[in-house]
Amino acid sequence: MIFVNFKTYEKGTGAAALETVKILEEVSKSSGVKIIPVVQPSDVAEITQAVSLEVWVQKIDPVEYGAHTGSIIPEAVVEDGAMGTFLNHSEGKIDFETLAKAHDRAKEVDLKTLIFASDIVELENISSLTPNFVSYEPAELIGSSTTSVTQAKPEIVKKAAEISRNAGIPLIVGAGVHSREDVKKSLELGAVGVAVASDIMNATDPKKELLDLVEGFK
Ligand code: G3P
Repeated sequence: MIFVNFKTYEKGTGAAALETVKILEEVSKSSGVKIIPVVQPSDVAEITQAVSLEVWVQKIDPVEYGAHTGSIIPEAVVEDGAMGTFLNHSEGKIDFETLAKAHDRAKEVDLKTLIFASDIVELENISSLTPNFVSYEPAELIGSSTTSVTQAKPEIVKKAAEISRNAGIPLIVGAGVHSREDVKKSLELGAVGVAVASDIMNATDPKKELLDLVEGFK
């Protein structure tokens, strides 16, 4: 499976995000590989209406109905059709107590969860929350177009796979993923899939990049 994180890239925002998600749907259908767009909360409703893919959001906040100006309440993204949420991404890290609360809120509204860890210690800590997925992403490699997580840190990915296997939680790896070889290596080392952003969002031809990545599952 491939999580495509739209972040706040231009191709991942508003009307452009709608075009991008249609490419994801086309490649997912033709390849049989599960591709999950992880979109901005403001785009969820339009995107879930436009495609049949499972759509996730990039975060929710640990709030309930009430006075929480600017927060993303989980109920709202569920109402718009989101099926899951990322939590604790390196670009929006939260402390463990806040994370645990956000995870509880996500579960209360039946959102699936993927929690990110930047290292092995954090991976062990977040696994105790039993999310649907854990992800190992070394922050310094995020956005790299030359060096992927599996090229730079194969031993840590292997260790991450062992920890997640023992916890019974599937592992996703990300950071700098940009080729079918990266995907293949991730699976060989014990991950069930990858999380990717810049390779697709910065591409002049996102479809071509995606078609290359899905080859890694063959
Ligand atoms: O969530 C996945 C993301 O952080 C990876 O980013 O640009 O290295 O593929 P990128």
